[in-house]
Amino acid sequence: MPAPHRLVVLVSGTGTLLQALLDAASEPGYPAAVVAVGADRPGTEGVERAHRAGLPTFVERLAGHPDRASWDRALLDRVRSHAPDVVVGAGFMKVVSPEFLDGIGCPMLNTHPSLLPDFPGAHAVRDALAAGVAVTGATVHRVDAGLDTGPVLGRTEVPVRPGDTETTLHERIKTEERRLLVEVVRGIARADAAPGTSRQPQT
Ligand code: GAR
Repeated sequence: MPAPHRLVVLVSGTGTLLQALLDAASEPGYPAAVVAVGADRPGTEGVERAHRAGLPTFVERLAGHPDRASWDRALLDRVRSHAPDVVVGAGFMKVVSPEFLDGIGCPMLNTHPSLLPDFPGAHAVRDALAAGVAVTGATVHRVDAGLDTGPVLGRTEVPVRPGDTETTLHERIKTEERRLLVEVVRGIARADAAPGTSRQPQT
């Protein structure tokens, strides 16, 4: 068995998606493990979840740097120090630079609460409600230089119910989103470990 994929997870908020990965990783045979959690702000429940799981954490505040490029380089150094196989933006509300994406040396995934390419950006659930769509959902995609534009790795649909608010709809989306993220990460880790790849066990 190859070693589990090393996940560095970036969060900005409550971290329920992170928790889904932590729970999955505690199951025998799940092919990935969270090795560190980073945030762009102090005092998040996401980082508290990592502390409770005994994981290393780091916080890089944009306000703690003279400019965005300096913050981005510092975040890159922090992430690289944990030698990830995959970086996961799980409710991470900052855009990283192409230099960051080149520098991490592995793919970065993001999970987003809409059916991309519809409703990119920071208010996806609000925007879907305002547009009056009957169905929305969540997307896990590979991060590229654009805003929520990278190749889609998985999507899950969630119907909008009469009377839904941003909160009720987002909670139902996140229930499906957590399952989707766990399955997409499982698929990536398994594919990387398959015969013919560099992570295949050596005989
Ligand atoms: C998730 O719905 C995630 O898709 C969204 O923040 C939520 C985080 O939930 N991310 C974005 O909107 C990024 N554009 P969590 O903090 O409970 O894991």
